[in-house]
Amino acid sequence: MKVNRLKDLQTLVSLCKRRGFVFQSSEIYGGLNSCWDYGPLGSQYKLNVKMAWWKAMTRRSDIVGLDASILMHPQVWKSSGHVDGFSDPLVDCKKCRSRFREDQALKNGVVTCPNCGSTDITEARSFNLMFKTHMGPVEDEGAVVYLRPETAQGIYVNFENVATSARKKIPFGIAQIGKSFRNEITPGNFIFRTREFEQMEMQFFVKPGTDEEWFETWKETRWSYYKTLGVDMDKLRFHQHGENELAHYAKAAFDIEYEFPFGWQELEGIHNRSDFDLTQHQKFSGKKLEYFDEANKERFLPFVVETAAGCDRMALALLCDAYREEVSTLDNGKEDVRVVLGLKPVLAPYKVAVLPLSKKPQLQDLANTLREGLSEEWNVDYDDAASIGKRYRRQDEIGTPLCVTVDFDSLEDNCVTIRHRDSMNQDRIAMDQLKNYIFDQLNTAF
Ligand code: GAP
Repeated sequence: MKVNRLKDLQTLVSLCKRRGFVFQSSEIYGGLNSCWDYGPLGSQYKLNVKMAWWKAMTRRSDIVGLDASILMHPQVWKSSGHVDGFSDPLVDCKKCRSRFREDQALKNGVVTCPNCGSTDITEARSFNLMFKTHMGPVEDEGAVVYLRPETAQGIYVNFENVATSARKKIPFGIAQIGKSFRNEITPGNFIFRTREFEQMEMQFFVKPGTDEEWFETWKETRWSYYKTLGVDMDKLRFHQHGENELAHYAKAAFDIEYEFPFGWQELEGIHNRSDFDLTQHQKFSGKKLEYFDEANKERFLPFVVETAAGCDRMALALLCDAYREEVSTLDNGKEDVRVVLGLKPVLAPYKVAVLPLSKKPQLQDLANTLREGLSEEWNVDYDDAASIGKRYRRQDEIGTPLCVTVDFDSLEDNCVTIRHRDSMNQDRIAMDQLKNYIFDQLNTAF
């Protein structure tokens, strides 16, 4: 048997549409560029991606959660440097009029139009990536608010509230998942770069002087996280930001990059933001944000080590990584391709599928009772359409780790057949042992 990994993004895009993971936004109106909707399977899958991250963060004793609002006081974005500094160099092609980022169109050091290849390009001008809107019924400058371009600022402005209410002592972190918006000049590659996306960010507040050590710790912690999710570690690498790549707030930064079908790209960033953000907010809000260390009777502004991941981007990387085609030759000489999403059970939208072998009422009744019982523990699919072989393949393609088949013998011997996604092995299990068996398999066998 030959195993093919994902070669082109389009294969995954069509699987996502066909199976209900991701649809284009407003598709019946022709779609809205770079916006995507998560379907029945995609919404559950994305929730699983978020829950896995949330657990890894907030089940530690030194990290608590937060859910701040998207709209914030406009001064936040002046203090944070985003009004002045969060922009990309925008250029136009004088020949075909397409518009693109100067830094992404360099060919042998010359800015070259990615659309028509012309090098007749305008001077670069700075394009701020923040979306603006107005608060309240008056659309004047005084009512301008921004859709947040990162979730991090919601954490900084709540630093004092969280530290006091959660009685946290430094070092400690605040984790948050939520939508962010950037008016990207060149979005693309499906859900990789979009204008509306979700971030999973954690800001870890530490004593100045310990920041470099914590930075190393978080680099290692985030690297190992991908191991626990079963990612092929050969497809991950670190990329250190050079002097001219560093964001305006960063003292040091490393990206974890993944090798997508369209090349190596940033998946998540780990940043040493020093005391930049708290200093700025303290200065412009006039509120003291210093931390008082009781033990040493010291007062200081904490440094921040940030881990910043995109939820949609992680969802994409994990799908790319999980996709495989198992190609074998049948007895009749024809080629057979089994498409499998080898997702870790924790990420799979359905953990189990219940499949009655026929539509006969006795089997349906038993299968439905089983489905109800299993649904108390897991997200369970039920499918009684088409041949059992086709139904297994459908579950393989959406990543369901286990299928439970109810057949006529089940009515006599109170046993069902469990079929495993990866090995395709089948076990016969007594129904009263089923839950224990599944618990065990989902925790240990993948
Ligand atoms: N708070 C720091 C920050 O926002 P960033 O490197 O700009 O840092 C963090 O963004 C992560 O958010 C990225 O590594 C990426 O996964 C995700 N991200 C950023 N822009 C995105 C976009 N336009 N579409 C999808 N994900 C994006």
